[in-house]
Amino acid sequence: MSDGLEGVVAARTVLSDVDGQAGRLVLRGASLDQLAGKASFEALILRLFEGFFDGLPPLEELTLMLGRARAEVFAETEVLDARLLSLEPIEAVRALTARLADGHDLACAMRLLGAQAVFTAAVARGRLGLGPIAPDPTLSHAADLLHMMRGTKASQGEVQGLDTYLVTVCDHGLNASTFAARVVASTQSGLTSSILAGQGALKGPLHGGAPGPIIAMLDEIGTPERAQNWIEQALDRGDRLMGFGHRIYRVRDPRADALKGAIRAMAKTGSASLGRLAFAEAVEAAVLAILKARKPDRPLETNVEFYTALLLEALGFKAEHFTCIFAAGRTAGWIAHAREQALTGRLIRPASVYIGP
Ligand code: CMC
Repeated sequence: MSDGLEGVVAARTVLSDVDGQAGRLVLRGASLDQLAGKASFEALILRLFEGFFDGLPPLEELTLMLGRARAEVFAETEVLDARLLSLEPIEAVRALTARLADGHDLACAMRLLGAQAVFTAAVARGRLGLGPIAPDPTLSHAADLLHMMRGTKASQGEVQGLDTYLVTVCDHGLNASTFAARVVASTQSGLTSSILAGQGALKGPLHGGAPGPIIAMLDEIGTPERAQNWIEQALDRGDRLMGFGHRIYRVRDPRADALKGAIRAMAKTGSASLGRLAFAEAVEAAVLAILKARKPDRPLETNVEFYTALLLEALGFKAEHFTCIFAAGRTAGWIAHAREQALTGRLIRPASVYIGP
């Protein structure tokens, strides 16, 4: 038995495969580098949902269906009040999501996907004292998320950057939040309940809550020369460096480079700063060198969160909203996994070893 269930196989899935030794992520037969920056988020939804829902339409229609779902759930933002806005953004999005009815069909799945974008933008604006912006169902999911956040249309470079991000994080094997979603699905509870479980697990700093503190780390370090001291002191205090290490990867997380590539592409269109990227790369190099010296037997490499932080910062998102954007992408994977699990008809119910009196 291991306390973190390392190496325990708990599901059969056609959805994604994480090869931690080779640093490879496969999403339904295609590797991440064949998809990131090439396929849209909507195309990935279709790819993940294939075989799990009746009446799955072709891409163009699914894109419109998702747009209509955003418009449908927008009414829910009416209940955003001071109490909800005082919660952490991911908690406020979770609370709004909890108001949606449970279901097992494609319409429920679309509402849940649409809701993550609509609620994230409404919560972000609400915390600034601004009213929500109604979705534009004719836009792509990424374009509409940025539009609902800002009230103005984003540039093509920015939309492409966010779309690549959503694709890059849409699914990733049996990570903690996906496992949580599958456990709930195994009781035949419904998709909304599964997504709530996923959000609850994702928000922790050891999972999807890591990228916020990465911006704080970069800001505190300030200049490349200060990196070594700052990192050594953090490790001496026993801190973990956010954006580094992974339960499965023993080499570099392939999503880190997919996102770095997206930031470079954004920089070409003036939507990201190459100076900020170069600074982050200098900090990354310092962290990797120090971790290697301190933990020679435990390969600790850059994970997805490090460049997530940089990309979402370039798109103008505040660090407090990073986990919500992660959830907006991962909801596609949670839904597909929940359907895959529910269709097995088998309840997940492991055993425990009693060590009490
Ligand atoms: N900084 C410093 N030391 C670390 C780090 C880190 N980021 N990650 C692992 N270690 C050390 C850890 O202290 C331990 O040392 P020791 O054996 O001396 O106690 C050793 O490496 C092994 O750590 P572990 O906790 O057994 O490894 P794990 O497989 O449970 O850790 C992790 C995975 C992601 C929880 C961990 O690496 C971590 O806390 N990283 C920082 C948070 C982070 O970036 N999270 C995002 C993960 S990627 C997004 C996702 O897919 O969810």
